[in-house]
Amino acid sequence: MTKPKIFVTRQWPAAVEAQLTALYDVTLNTTDRPLSADEFKAALQNYDAVCPTVCDSFPAEVINVANKRCKILGNFGVGYNHIDINAAKQAGIMVTNTPGVLTESTADIAMTLLLMSARRGAEGDRIVRAKQWHGWCPTHMLSTDVTGASLGLIGFGRIAQAMARKAHHGFGMHIHYYNPSPADASIVADLNAVRYDSIEALMGSADFISLHCPGGAETKHLINAERLSLMKTSAHLINTARGDVVDSQALINALNSKQIAGAGLDVYEGEPNIHAGFLDLDNVTLLPHLGSATLNTRTAMGEKVLANLAAFFSGKEPPDRVR
Ligand code: DGY
Repeated sequence: MTKPKIFVTRQWPAAVEAQLTALYDVTLNTTDRPLSADEFKAALQNYDAVCPTVCDSFPAEVINVANKRCKILGNFGVGYNHIDINAAKQAGIMVTNTPGVLTESTADIAMTLLLMSARRGAEGDRIVRAKQWHGWCPTHMLSTDVTGASLGLIGFGRIAQAMARKAHHGFGMHIHYYNPSPADASIVADLNAVRYDSIEALMGSADFISLHCPGGAETKHLINAERLSLMKTSAHLINTARGDVVDSQALINALNSKQIAGAGLDVYEGEPNIHAGFLDLDNVTLLPHLGSATLNTRTAMGEKVLANLAAFFSGKEPPDRVR
């Protein structure tokens, strides 16, 4: 029997590329070069499955290319705001993603950013490297306590809850959250979590605000100038969700004018082209979308794609179909 033809848009961990190669007629991107819209269109025309990832854009214009062969987009990543899901549905292309396996590593990066922003970690590192550190003194680089502070989470799904557990049980933080629906009673009890009925009310209540909502049209610029102005001047904003959830210029203005104390960002509008205004600010910590970037997590993400493809090509329902 001929093997299904699979196209992988970017390099994956070696262990999962090896499994793919053993099972399918695979084209890998061995140079890891970002591909163009025309290359995605050609892949849709020539392969049974295309496996994009979070930095590949699949708008309707790409999905609607004529003479398609592709029947499944096996996305490597949990977020799928880079794929026009309706266009894919209409074109008869199934989309799958990789939920569950990147929860802890992404929550770890959110905590990393929270700690770095509060304790001025990146700024301190820059000072040491620039040979600008002239020794310990009682008033050098004073910062903000994390232990015992309050953490406000916008969105309270898997990653937010994992962060809340680390923050509450590890750092004694008080957990506040905004989510359209209440969390399970057992989770609320474990974290002693307080639910707010509006983002506005939450913004003003917490020492740290961390974003955990999906990207896309509905959440674009959810955090705008008005909402930033509700935060405490001592507060920090953490974003490991999607860049366009925050209005970058509004955040730059808030950081520049010290309307808020700091921010820690792992995701950006239009990444990897970071808004230049962030680069001159000392009170923002900038990471290059590292949320899921551990070898174990990325391997587990690849294995999820493999499980989705295996189900699809044996006529079963893939475990992580995007509806
Ligand atoms: C995802 O899977 O959506 C993450 O952003 C990757 O780190």
